Amino acid sequence: MNVLIKNIKSLVGIRDAGVDRVRGNELINLPFISNAFLLISNGTIAAFGKMDEIHLSPLNESLNETVDAHNRVVMPCYCDSHTHLVFADTREQEFIYKIQGLSYAEIASKGGGILNSAKKLNAASEEFLIETTLQRIEQIIQHGTGAVEIKSGYGLSYESELKMLRVIAKLKIISPIPIKATFLGAHAFPLEYKNNRQGYLRLLVEELLPTIANEQLADYCDVFCDEGFFTPDETDVVLQAAWKYGIKPKIHANQLAVSGGVQAGVRNKAVSVDHLENISEEEIRCLQNSNTIPTLLPSAAFFLRMQYPPARTMIEADLPVTLASDYNPGSSPSGRMSFVVSLACIHMKMTPEEALNAATINGAAAMELSDLLGSVTIGKKANLIITKPINSIANIPYHFGDDLIERVIIS
Ligand code: NIG
Ligand code: FE
Repeated sequence: MNVLIKNIKSLVGIRDAGVDRVRGNELINLPFISNAFLLISNGTIAAFGKMDEIHLSPLNESLNETVDAHNRVVMPCYCDSHTHLVFADTREQEFIYKIQGLSYAEIASKGGGILNSAKKLNAASEEFLIETTLQRIEQIIQHGTGAVEIKSGYGLSYESELKMLRVIAKLKIISPIPIKATFLGAHAFPLEYKNNRQGYLRLLVEELLPTIANEQLADYCDVFCDEGFFTPDETDVVLQAAWKYGIKPKIHANQLAVSGGVQAGVRNKAVSVDHLENISEEEIRCLQNSNTIPTLLPSAAFFLRMQYPPARTMIEADLPVTLASDYNPGSSPSGRMSFVVSLACIHMKMTPEEALNAATINGAAAMELSDLLGSVTIGKKANLIITKPINSIANIPYHFGDDLIERVIIS
């Protein structure tokens, strides 16, 4: 199957193979070719270049389809490296509580929040969860996402955490886009373990992790390391146990407070530390001396009316800032990455180029998928967005709430 996209106004996000992530002042550069073509062969990017060099490309094989992208931008799909896409029900009642003045922490302490989702997930069948999550995957693909990470963490019991991870494993097989699975048993302490935190840690470490490793159900292990949730010491216990099985950390840190989560992530060699609404110079220094990616989730800050993470400070510190949606029923009930990019530009003062790099190649890096996705590179998967006619890529964040997508190509 060969598809040619021709007359592309601007083909953006071009990277050499081997570029894993972009950091600091490299982020401002989103390399592009004007008046370009791109050839897809059997699901991968086979060639691209200037239209006047099209005769040099290997087009002798018969084309199955030619797409005219006149006045349109072609860019890599978003790589959404942080979601909680498997859930049994929405939580709009809590949305109303929030409007009436309750905080996220107050709702959580009333047994709402994550525990509310856990109660509903316990009652849901695997079939129901597969069907509804697949619908969400199809929806985010329409919004331009071409790879996604999905966490457990609404199970909070042996059976239900495994149920969530088995659902994700089945979705990996049937989903049109690549999925990475993350075990987030340490999302909250279930009520029955409220006064027995050690007991819950034992369940995670001694019972769940061995089964998960044995069935190869998780690519990563997450902990909600934050005030009122898991302490840095408890985080160490879970992450060290995960490492014994070769499962790398990707954690929630510093959403609610400067909590020691960044340091816990870095000392446990986390692939990424995510949220970072609360961060001081010390955390930034800690990230500078590490390979850990800071992933920012501005739609959660937006939805919870919290302060946004200081993206500019992190970019000035030469960090590979990444953007993800945090799609979940409690703090970010949307997986629309173009809106995440808008928020990053409007509230975090990232330029459109910086935000698009953060949401594509760096998102891929935060899922260790940079060799496969996140840029226009020969040999990478052809997961691409063709926009509607637009003046420039700045229109994407500028028209917040719209996607400006004409077509999403998956492979
Ligand atoms: O990333 N912060 C922890 N976990 C999710 C929220 C989960 C929920 O409220 O259901 C988050 O924001
Ligand atoms: Fe999250």
